[in-house]
Amino acid sequence: PIGLKASASVRGLQFGTAASIDHLRNNVDGGQFNPYVIKNYHLIEPENDLKPQKLWRGENNYDWVDSDWLLGATPDTVGWAQQNGMQIRGHTLVWATDNTIPHWLLQQESSITPDKAKSLMSDYIHAVVGRYRGKIPSWDVVNEAVDDAQNNGHPFNMRNCFWFRKLGQDFVKYAFMFAHQADPQARLYYNDYNTEDMGSKSNSAFELVKWVRSEGVAIHGVGMQWHIGLWATVNPGDQYYQNAQRLIDNGFDFMVTELDIAIPMNGNHPRDLNDLHKQGLLYRALLKYVLHFSPRCHALITWGFTDRYSWIPAFSDYLNGVALPSDWNYQPKYAYWQMQEELGRI
Ligand code: G3I
Repeated sequence: PIGLKASASVRGLQFGTAASIDHLRNNVDGGQFNPYVIKNYHLIEPENDLKPQKLWRGENNYDWVDSDWLLGATPDTVGWAQQNGMQIRGHTLVWATDNTIPHWLLQQESSITPDKAKSLMSDYIHAVVGRYRGKIPSWDVVNEAVDDAQNNGHPFNMRNCFWFRKLGQDFVKYAFMFAHQADPQARLYYNDYNTEDMGSKSNSAFELVKWVRSEGVAIHGVGMQWHIGLWATVNPGDQYYQNAQRLIDNGFDFMVTELDIAIPMNGNHPRDLNDLHKQGLLYRALLKYVLHFSPRCHALITWGFTDRYSWIPAFSDYLNGVALPSDWNYQPKYAYWQMQEELGRI
């Protein structure tokens, strides 16, 4: 195959994958990892390595070891990404769930005033975005701030988390403000899951991003994660298309940021082989949807590429998995070929 990247370029679309810096640094699996990434993708989204849990060790205390390897420690230093012609997408500056907020910060919660919380957030965002200014063209600034529960009492159904308890909904606005100050060129996204259809959660996310912009703060787009299963059907004109269209009509770009399509499994194998076929068709439907909205939809990013490193099995008690376009051994699955074929149609 010529690779998804070359085919996507022809259609003006960027292809991306999540990947761990550790896997890149070690070019794991006998050197298969990096060539696969470089051949198929324009951009890499570090799966866990640019998160606060990883980088933010304490007040004014950062762990830059891995991120500097990828991006370079100073504006003039070239990291692995530039050496290999790969773009990096930033994920994520403020993750609005308590189980992803650094422990040291949660532990001090009772003694942190709202002003202090705001200045800590400012320090962190300026440190990270500023350090890699010009090298990370787009960031997920705030991740998963909307509650799964409907009508939780807040107008945008915001989640109860450390930042919300300290600053209310303003924390979202501040995060975008600080990110824009630290890198005025960067494209700034709000990112969430289960916000792909027309429903209560996507309505809340839509209201939230409109509110941030109405406060005069730079916000450019919405990342829709697309962690789905075979239950989804995506067809022109349906609620998924309507949801993307309303974002565009209101001046927001969007991206598919974390696509994977989980299927029931036994061991490392699909329980029903027919599911691989259904999965392939659904990957293709998602690609069609992305191409329909291109260039206002800039990228299709999958949450990994080989089933070997997908987050799904461990998080589903090994009931689901095989969710990505290539199998455990880096061999393209039906999903890969379906996308390749769709990209080949000019
Ligand atoms: O690295 C440690 C390892 O040393 C330790 O032995 C092991 C024991 O639990 O944990 C390892 O860290 C895990 C890390 O993934 C790396 O594998 C963390 O516990 C685990 O919580 C972490 O999960 C990640 C999760 O986000 C939470 O940060 C997943 O890999 C990652 O795929 C997932 O990605 C999220 C997106 O950021 C946001 N959207 C949803 C998506 C899926 O949950």
